[in-house]
Amino acid sequence: MKADFKLAGRLQKLPPYLFAEIDRVKRELAKKGVPFIDLSIGDPDIPSPKAVLKKIFEASAVKSNQKYALDAGKASLRAAIKKWMKKRFAVGLDADSEILPLIGSKEGLVHFPMALAGPGDCVLIPSPGYPGYRAAALFAGADFYEMPLLEKNGFLPALQEIPAAVRKRAKIMYLNYPNNPTTALAPKSFLEDAVRFCRKHGLILAYDNAYSEIFFGKKPMSVLQIKGAKEVTVEFHSFSKTFCMTGFRLGWACGSASLIGALLKLKTNIDSGVWGAIQEGGAHALEKEAGYTDRLRKQFAARRDLFVAGLKKKGFEGIHADSAFYVWVRLPKGYSSSIKYAAHLLKDKNIVATPGLGFGSHGEGFIRFALTTGTAELKKALQKL
Ligand SMILES: Cc1ncc(COP(=O)(O)O)c(C=O)c1O
Repeated sequence: MKADFKLAGRLQKLPPYLFAEIDRVKRELAKKGVPFIDLSIGDPDIPSPKAVLKKIFEASAVKSNQKYALDAGKASLRAAIKKWMKKRFAVGLDADSEILPLIGSKEGLVHFPMALAGPGDCVLIPSPGYPGYRAAALFAGADFYEMPLLEKNGFLPALQEIPAAVRKRAKIMYLNYPNNPTTALAPKSFLEDAVRFCRKHGLILAYDNAYSEIFFGKKPMSVLQIKGAKEVTVEFHSFSKTFCMTGFRLGWACGSASLIGALLKLKTNIDSGVWGAIQEGGAHALEKEAGYTDRLRKQFAARRDLFVAGLKKKGFEGIHADSAFYVWVRLPKGYSSSIKYAAHLLKDKNIVATPGLGFGSHGEGFIRFALTTGTAELKKALQKL
């Protein structure tokens, strides 16, 4: 028998996952022994907090942590999240019904529409935006509409320009500030507009706050701080960026009890929760490691200042580095295709960066550099650019 199985339609609709594709290119370079500077994926080189590692190691010896975790997560982690949300944003949440630990925020973000949208529904996604949102819509059997995030609008979507026919079918709107890849922050007035829009048109707001702690000036908000938001919102948080814990897979969703309940119902049929020891490590991080994140921000700020100054010296224009650990830059003169420019960086300079088009059609014309490597490497990259 010739095993020639066709991919399911939902997968056929998707291009290869952007960062898996970049990873493939990096592996090829490594195999050939070509040294390269990796400024592609948002996976920091900085070690996770030592005390968190110790906590996880100790917790792994406890028998209850060697068993299936509960889908709803440990009460101790939910209590730590509740306390942290109150302290950081002055947002009050019920730890049992309004908080749900996730196997990384990506897991929750991508599963969410499967719980709440389906064929005939439309999911509004930012473009450029985190690639998971598009996959999420398609896996749910819904379709998606790209809301342009344009430089001239401060990378905020023009909600009033969403066509009425799309709006009528729209079920979920994803928003993400601090924004990947543009680094834009959302002012309070925009968050108010977004909540008003969702309430008026009966939409669910899926607010991705994975970078809430990677800021350089004013502290980013939680959309749950906006009056009337909670009823229509689920906000997603991550330990990956705040504590450099990308590999541990831990995040949480919080907000409307009925929306959290829907996501939990879906997840109980798919996964069996986050490993208990990791949950204990996460609770420790939230309770005790604020100082770690303060130091982290300083490190990223130093990298950002160095890299932005270097790019300016080289004549780059349209440089955006307002939050997160990315630099979103207009392509240099002579280039209109981000794929071609990224290929040039790879082939001629051995620098791996992410083409803007990979984040959606409105990302074209830009390239994203991730400052997830030390200043020595960044200086080397600047010399080559
Ligand atoms: C905007 C955004 N949201 C969510 C995630 C997923 O983070 P994690 O699944 O590690 O929590 C990422 C990862 O890069 C991201 O950039």
